[in-house]
Amino acid sequence: MAKGKATAFFCKECGFESAKWMGQCPACREWNTFVEEPVGKKEGSSVKLRPPEKVRPARLSEISIEEKERDSTGYGELDRVLGGGVVAGSLVLVGGDPGIGKSTLLLQVCRNLAAAGRRVLYISGEESLKQIKLRANRIGAISGDLLFLCETSLDNIQETILEVKPDIVIIDSIQTMYREEVASAPGSVSQVRESTNLLMQIAKGAGITIFIVGHVTKEGVVAGPRVLEHMVDTVLYFEGDRHASYRILRGVKNRFGSTNEIGVFEMREQGLVEVENPSEFMLDGRPEGASGAVVACAMEGTRPILLEVQALVTQTNLGIPRRTAAGTDYNRVNLLMAVLEKRCHYEMSRYDAYVNIAGGMRMNEPALDLAIVLALVSSLKDKPVDEKTIVFGEVGLSGEVRAVSMAEQRVNEAVKLGFTRCILPQICLDKMKPSDKMKLTGVRNVREAIGEL
Ligand code: TYD
Ligand code: MG
Repeated sequence: MAKGKATAFFCKECGFESAKWMGQCPACREWNTFVEEPVGKKEGSSVKLRPPEKVRPARLSEISIEEKERDSTGYGELDRVLGGGVVAGSLVLVGGDPGIGKSTLLLQVCRNLAAAGRRVLYISGEESLKQIKLRANRIGAISGDLLFLCETSLDNIQETILEVKPDIVIIDSIQTMYREEVASAPGSVSQVRESTNLLMQIAKGAGITIFIVGHVTKEGVVAGPRVLEHMVDTVLYFEGDRHASYRILRGVKNRFGSTNEIGVFEMREQGLVEVENPSEFMLDGRPEGASGAVVACAMEGTRPILLEVQALVTQTNLGIPRRTAAGTDYNRVNLLMAVLEKRCHYEMSRYDAYVNIAGGMRMNEPALDLAIVLALVSSLKDKPVDEKTIVFGEVGLSGEVRAVSMAEQRVNEAVKLGFTRCILPQICLDKMKPSDKMKLTGVRNVREAIGEL
């Protein structure tokens, strides 16, 4: 680089800064993520600080907490992930792959908040007003105080916000925004950081709730949303399979609530619709009397979700058997097959095995172990498992079935959906009240569970 022009290298995954280029980021261990960016501020700019007389520490007892701080977004699924609604003056990051539906979700939230009497300002740096109008037409009638702006200069945006005085602001997306005083291009690590910094000052200073959209990018020089995770109050990721219509909103960080919650939505013609009962949704279209399919119950936070675990076991034609796992951990599946081989004497090494969680859901909970094992055995023997049975339990290396948390909630969810039999760890059964709607079968090890099929 030419002398006199200061640059540094940044990891675009996590924002780690280094004086020289590196192949692997020492902070987040990602490969090939370093990009060179100019650093330092342009001449003649200064950050506006509060006047020094306002800077004063306070006692805990002097700090007042105002009541009624949370606003409902109109979506129960989103409110739950946020910890019970939007907190005034908070900074919320909504991350996700391009095209997953972040803009759609936030536009729908804006519509609801505007209808509830809030003043909302939607700032887009990606789409023209016409494009926003087209999307708005799809999601239906919009009423109330909802303003739109196409702008990417944060200095202009700051002025507009202070002038319009909205309650809620949407920044779509942070990677298109820039501050004049930062030397590097929009989307670079330092721009994204400085921009978020300014937005944080606006949010905290004026008590405005700001939602920031951040794209998850795999290639290119655009900084990912992880760069700003530590600066915001709440981080939500919007995920889902492009080919499946449902979307999951997952809380990754929340200063105002738990991060265990998920919200489930479905993308339809008229925008996103809440899915209040994801189990029903996941089990839709289940084949009848097919071998290798077992219904399991996993927990997402405090919420039980029933899923269908599918396995296909076929004689192998190659020296090394093929194994794949879709929607669950590949190594876990291998481990469970080793347990079957060693503890139950099935010759799994002679078979290819494919395991899949139907519906495109990703789930890594150990409580799925027993269902995966039973699905493998059912496919191997070509014997279907009773359709009204659900299975959960963790499997240990010696083939024992270990306890899982919240067994009662899992059983209750299955009762709600009309299941009549449950195979569960004996230890969980010992602690549970008998149920008249569900036949509960406790098992101590994998062999007992296979015997129950
Ligand atoms: P969008 O919100 O633009 O995604 P993001 O902001 O995360 O990049 O959503 C894009 C996709 O959603 C697009 O492929 C079309 C689809 N979509 C629908 O299926 N129905 C709808 O009503 C809308 C508005 C979008
Ligand atoms: Mg968008």
